[in-house]
Amino acid sequence: MNLTGKTYVVTGGNSGIGKETVKQLVSQGASVILACRRPEEGERARAEILAGVTGGKIQVETLDLASLESVRTFAQKVLRSTPALHGLVNNAGVMNTPFGKTRDGFELQFGTNHLGHFLLTELLLPSLKAGAPSRVVIVSSCFHDRAFGREGRIDFEDLNFEKKKYDGWKAYAQSKLANLLHARHLGRKLAGSGITVASVHPGWVRSNLIQHSMPVWAQDYVLFPLLKLAGMIEPKDGAQSSLYALLAPEVESLSGSYFSQVGIYRTREAARGGWPLQSPNPNAHDDAAAERLDRVSRQSVGLA
Ligand SMILES: NC(=O)c1ccc[n+]([C@@H]2O[C@H](COP(=O)([O-])OP(=O)(O)OC[C@H]3O[C@@H](n4cnc5c(N)ncnc54)[C@H](OP(=O)(O)O)[C@@H]3O)[C@@H](O)[C@H]2O)c1
Repeated sequence: MNLTGKTYVVTGGNSGIGKETVKQLVSQGASVILACRRPEEGERARAEILAGVTGGKIQVETLDLASLESVRTFAQKVLRSTPALHGLVNNAGVMNTPFGKTRDGFELQFGTNHLGHFLLTELLLPSLKAGAPSRVVIVSSCFHDRAFGREGRIDFEDLNFEKKKYDGWKAYAQSKLANLLHARHLGRKLAGSGITVASVHPGWVRSNLIQHSMPVWAQDYVLFPLLKLAGMIEPKDGAQSSLYALLAPEVESLSGSYFSQVGIYRTREAARGGWPLQSPNPNAHDDAAAERLDRVSRQSVGLA
């Protein structure tokens, strides 16, 4: 597919799956706004990618999803520089962090993985509408179903772990279920607008995401042969699901869906994947919860 003349935003484009997503888009001729919280790392990734592929362009911009002010500043820049946007890939994320809060006081994983992206998506809608047909791809996870025994559930009474004891996996599962419900709700809301929305599980991918659960060197060297045997894939392969959701023509008729090639789910059937996949987590099909999450997110980020 020739993507010359198309412009995409990829969050967390300096590392792992995001970096490979940028690389592939650029190799097909696209212009990509590589959004990252550490611009020096973004520039490093930019140089590395452009040394290997020719075709499109990369513009590095600062975006800290754990700060609503940073999200607003980034979005204003994009709206000014890019009146017509063809795709937004909400890829950045953190997993199983120690308890922490975003600049605005939200639990770190929910705030970064969901709320920051929620505000970003809302603010970029004018450019996405002008660029239609366009896409929003939200990188969720199979852990929206269950993360090491913790079922993905949106705890509306205590979204930020202020009343219950903090659990890093529970918080990750909640944030990734929020990603899936965000896509589901937005897909319906934007029906007929020319903007297609999808969420994906990229697979179990070797990346820095593991850093709060085990040292990255242990993953990359000591345990690598074992993990590879167990199914861990490389970032380039992990990027394929996002790219499919972003580019494949058939996704247009499946707006709001969740795509997963393979994953760790509560049922064997789901583990075999699905395009789209019916999540085995009943909470992922709860439209009332999706609607409520939209309302609460809107209020939380100051869009009510
Ligand atoms: N790897 C897997 O097995 C797997 C499985 C399921 C889902 N996923 C999802 O895939 C996505 C990409 O993860 P990855 O595996 O490629 O991990 P990664 O290499 O750690 O990449 C994560 C990216 O998110 C960025 N990020 C983190 N906090 C941010 C913030 N506050 N503001 C802006 N950017 C921020 C990171 O920036 P820094 O470089 O500055 O830290 C990095 O660029 C995540 O949403 C993750 O939940 C991954």
